Amino acid sequence: MNTIYMDNNATTQVDPAVYDEMKPFFTELYGNPSSMHRFGGQVGAHLKQARERVAALINCEPDEIIFTSCGSESDNTAIRSALNALPGKRHIITTRVEHPAILSLCKFLEKKEGYDVTYLGTDEHGRLDLEELKKSIRKDTAIISIMWANNETGNIYPIEEIARIAKDNDVIFHTDAVQAVGKVPIDLEKTPIDMLSLSGHKLHAPKGVGALFVRKRLPFRPFLIGGHQERSRRAGTENTTGIIALGKACQLALDHMEEENTLVKTLRDKLETGLLERVPDSILNGDKDNRLPNTSNISFGYVEGEAILLMMDQLNICASSGSACTSGSLEPSHVLRAMGVPFTFAHGSIRFSLSRFNTEQEVDFIVKNLPGIIDNLRKLSPFSAEKQGLTCAKSSE
Ligand SMILES: Cc1ncc(COP(=O)(O)O)c(C=O)c1O
Repeated sequence: MNTIYMDNNATTQVDPAVYDEMKPFFTELYGNPSSMHRFGGQVGAHLKQARERVAALINCEPDEIIFTSCGSESDNTAIRSALNALPGKRHIITTRVEHPAILSLCKFLEKKEGYDVTYLGTDEHGRLDLEELKKSIRKDTAIISIMWANNETGNIYPIEEIARIAKDNDVIFHTDAVQAVGKVPIDLEKTPIDMLSLSGHKLHAPKGVGALFVRKRLPFRPFLIGGHQERSRRAGTENTTGIIALGKACQLALDHMEEENTLVKTLRDKLETGLLERVPDSILNGDKDNRLPNTSNISFGYVEGEAILLMMDQLNICASSGSACTSGSLEPSHVLRAMGVPFTFAHGSIRFSLSRFNTEQEVDFIVKNLPGIIDNLRKLSPFSAEKQGLTCAKSSE
């Protein structure tokens, strides 16, 4: 069996059509779009088309797109821009389940720069309480940043409602839509979002390119200062190949979103049902009825996720675990901890994230082989027999 790749929330395969589109910009059309000569200028025309394609996917104006190097840069730019534009406002609202691109920045701003941050909690399915959001807004709130879709559980958040709450309270609203763009219809003409982050490598474009939507007339402060690229909003010679690729990937996503979601969801549901039925003590994490069509996060109780991943790796199956091994203690993911998933289950969580390149045969292979792997690991596991939980240190957080 070839590699079975079900880790698409980590990164995706570049679509062959995207690769074909970007190739000439390495070898033939390698000019700098800022150059005065026609050779460079013609690249500028392709960048314009890419910007239009990205804008079409999220229904905004092309000028509202700033190309960046990745989702993390877009997130950092958005939050820093709001804080710098509103120096009197020292409060940020976000959630406990954001990606580290937001969470680590907020912790840094809190600890090193004296900002006040409210981290909204979730219920056991990872859902937010919008009343809690409303109550946490203050006169000095500079920005609310809440992700559109969660990278671990796939949970989709009620972004339209959240955007309206922010607007009613005159607070800048940013959403990290890195996992949502290309999988969820997004209409920025109808939704009062101020800033939105996206990343190429999550939607079949290469790594190293992202974008930030910034609504027209929103006060904006650049993160990278230097040349006048991106209308002086992001300095640095453009990653022309990456931008062309991102444009093509966005065009493909817009043209095929519905059929692709149907295909991927059918495969995901078959995988999920097969595993939950065949593996005792397994639970689904997240909001079953409101999540990305490609994501399934399953906890297999009384066994370690890392051990499952290693055994799956022997069979060439790629997925992710919801815990990371640091300094000898296995830390369950911050997302599962925020949801209050019991310790012995959080440790055995595996995230499967599918794409249009997966097949039914791959799903069948996993459903056939994984239950036996987990059964064997449980037999070997000292804590499993008594179902006492893991022996390694618990996180102090
Ligand atoms: C929700 C979310 N935000 C931000 C990022 C960071 O994106 P990038 O890897 O492009 O910096 C990721 C990547 O996993 C993500 O899943």
